[in-house]
Amino acid sequence: MESTGKLSRTHSCNDLGATNIGEQVTLMGWVLRRRDHGGVIFIDLRDRWGLTQVVFNPEVNPEVHAKAHQVRSEWVLAVRGKVEARPGDMANPKLTTGAIEILVDELDILNTSETPPFPLDEETEVSDNLRLQYRYLDLRRPEMISNLIMRHKAVQAVRNYLNDNDFLDVETPMLTRSTPEGARDYLVPSRVNAGKFYALPQSPQLFKQLLMIAGMDRYYQIVKCFRDEDLRADRQPEFTQIDMELSFVDEEEVMKINEGMIVALFKETLGLDLEPPFARLTYDEAMDRFGTDRPDVRFGMELINLTDIAANCGFKVFRGVADKGGAVRAINAKGCATFTRKELDNLTEYVAQFGARGLAWVKMKADGEWQSPIAKFFTEEERSAIASATDAVEGDLLFFGADSSKVVFQVLSELRVELARRLDFLKKDEFSFVWVTDFPLMEYDEREKRYQALHHPFTAPKEEDIEKLDTDPAKVYSRAYDLVLNGTEIGGGSIRIHQKELQSKVLEVLGIGEREANEKFGFLLRALELGAPPHGGLAFGLDRLLMIITGSDSIRNVIAFPKTQKATCPLTEAPASVARKQLTELHIRPDWKE
Ligand code: AMO
Ligand code: AMP
Repeated sequence: MESTGKLSRTHSCNDLGATNIGEQVTLMGWVLRRRDHGGVIFIDLRDRWGLTQVVFNPEVNPEVHAKAHQVRSEWVLAVRGKVEARPGDMANPKLTTGAIEILVDELDILNTSETPPFPLDEETEVSDNLRLQYRYLDLRRPEMISNLIMRHKAVQAVRNYLNDNDFLDVETPMLTRSTPEGARDYLVPSRVNAGKFYALPQSPQLFKQLLMIAGMDRYYQIVKCFRDEDLRADRQPEFTQIDMELSFVDEEEVMKINEGMIVALFKETLGLDLEPPFARLTYDEAMDRFGTDRPDVRFGMELINLTDIAANCGFKVFRGVADKGGAVRAINAKGCATFTRKELDNLTEYVAQFGARGLAWVKMKADGEWQSPIAKFFTEEERSAIASATDAVEGDLLFFGADSSKVVFQVLSELRVELARRLDFLKKDEFSFVWVTDFPLMEYDEREKRYQALHHPFTAPKEEDIEKLDTDPAKVYSRAYDLVLNGTEIGGGSIRIHQKELQSKVLEVLGIGEREANEKFGFLLRALELGAPPHGGLAFGLDRLLMIITGSDSIRNVIAFPKTQKATCPLTEAPASVARKQLTELHIRPDWKE
């Protein structure tokens, strides 16, 4: 097979059109398809930019045609030839280069390829594992190329915006100490310090605070973060943050500058003009109306509190829950009374995974009549009170959750999104942003029997709540904010504690005693005593943002080399075993079998 490489490329596979007819050109790329039309051979030549049809005609150039005969899918070619108009009805208006084709008079086979393990046309379903094992082939597909281009554009837009706003791009260490984002760490054993370990950063949180103390004023970094947690469709063990921190700012300033950044990002990637300021909800309101702190506000079906009505009703389950201080709430699926018994059973099963012990429902009939397994337990007055609270009319379908508030919120918020999915309310080209603010600073963890920070332990409490740290920590609100897009938390941050005494106090309430605090974050506590300015910041999940921008169902589709659900890489087969000798050097004596 020859590979002279003597041709040199003049155009990409997406460049040529009617205005180039008659020109001599040279293209290089991969064979997407080859069609043999009884003599004339057509090849779709593909590169990162697009497709061009190249033609081999035995009557024009029998030698080159004979050579083209051997060519197969994914071979790498260089072709030289003349740009010609496609014959009348052969033009393809859907393709940028659809008006022309190249009549080839010189063909260089730069490389051959074995038959690829899966075809690269869009129609074929390929298992995720195979796609990841041959990621370099998978990435040849237009959808994947376009996702990576989108990612590139997003990063450029962010850099331009932040550079224009005086942010300094500073790198922070990857081999560091455990950081406090609450997930499990990835650890790296130290060879030169026996028995000691680095942790890969879960975020640059502490370093960016130190950069503020260092006087950098505005910092950003597009940075890898590592968290060893159970993976979901929107989680990866290593993911990328757009991380930033600012000095001498309050919540409003941080939110405003970030709205500007998101506006620039959507303009550069999708050409969309978003309209800031974005909507806002307090945490309490988000929970009350949507049952979650990351509400999807593209559609309604809000949660209605019926606990008062349920407290006196004849349905034992509801009354029992109300008596025990639980909650009864409902959502109204407008016009859904046509749901079949099977669909209702199926939804009941769906919510069971979130802890629901049942899913009572009511189909609204004419004249306020109920079709429902629980109809008999309610008086006419109670029925009409519920109808009026839920705004229910004939043809609507009500769902009820009765349990502790926590369970009801989780069940109904998940049900709400699942219904929206089934009703096709989740439009991928609609982008609904909402800031969630005024989070509780900490919540009590029943299992651990102690308070846990809702964001992280460096988030500042609201000034007016500081005195409650001693008396009623659960009632202390924080200066944190999350940005939610279409029901996904795309970013979060806070104004930080910049005074040593307050930081020590918060750590103490979180059950982190002085010794542990000094051991883990002593360097930060010390820095807070040496002229720390007021500061705050935020970090976005770049991968999650891109997942939404590109309409992808999985975070893996916007990462060049992602990990599987089990945190493995089928391409490199990481994680892998290592030689005993390497472990010995690292002072590790394994007790597992090889
Ligand atoms: P947080 O932990 O909320 O905040 O992370 C910020 C954003 O990162 C994204 N994210 C993830 N994306 C993919 N896979 C994961 N496993 C994953 N985990 C988080 C989310 C999230 O909103 N230091 C703070 C920020 C700050 O306070 O400034 C932090 O890391 O979109
Ligand atoms: P039962 O009286 O247990 O047959 O329940 C009657 C209806 O109430 C069924 O549709 C159950 O799914 C529903 N149900 C039972 N427990 C709950 C609960 N905790 N929350 C919501 N609905 C429930």
